Amino acid sequence: MSDRRDFFKKIGLIGLSGIATKLVSNEQLQALETLGQEGISSLPFTLPALPYAYNALEPFIDEQTMIIHHTKHHQAYVNKCNEIKSTDMDYQVDDITKCRQFDPSSKGKSILRNNLGGHVNHTLFWTLLKPNKEANPNLPAGKLAEAINKDFKSFDDFKKLFSEKATKHFGSGWCWLVLRNNTLVIETTENQENPFMRASVVDNDTVKVIMALDVWEHAYYLKYQNKRADYIANWWNVANWDKAAELFNSK
Ligand SMILES: [Fe+2]
Repeated sequence: MSDRRDFFKKIGLIGLSGIATKLVSNEQLQALETLGQEGISSLPFTLPALPYAYNALEPFIDEQTMIIHHTKHHQAYVNKCNEIKSTDMDYQVDDITKCRQFDPSSKGKSILRNNLGGHVNHTLFWTLLKPNKEANPNLPAGKLAEAINKDFKSFDDFKKLFSEKATKHFGSGWCWLVLRNNTLVIETTENQENPFMRASVVDNDTVKVIMALDVWEHAYYLKYQNKRADYIANWWNVANWDKAAELFNSK
């Protein structure tokens, strides 16, 4: 377990190791562990199945978008991770650990980081969506609701701030609700970065991702075109606060 934790920390995914244990199949987890313990291995990453049908998030997120997002975009990250492993056998974990920031001179490392981030981020994202046919979203409850009220005054204040940050994030990336050092904060990251990749994490911040929203155009463009704000407004209807509470309450 300590080797696994050490590996995730090294590549900036500390905190997702626990999530990955629950989300990723044993085969995938074994692949991650092997990658961490032995450098780049030959074990393949695989695309996790969605926990619902492609059309289950209609009318808020359309079927065609979900099909392409999952089978093309996420699959591409998986393929690239496997491709890098099979063609760049010289990369070792110690090389990856030095990639806290993107380094144009270390193309291969950034490619691995981007694609492994893409794989992990999307694996998490799928579980943070929940079918809901009515514009009547489930809301945070219990301790998570209490924490949101403490750190953002109210759910409505949190929703407004999260929507603003997600909408205004420039270019491709993600918007996150994060428990960082026991305080809920909203963070955005570029491309396939995530809150665990920040240098401060390496310096021992405690971080839990509670909610994630993909704001890449591939997540919404077919249905919403350039209207990211409309996509975000509708996403609240299918945000899975049951899963978020599970993450919040996890150790
Ligand atoms: Fe995406």
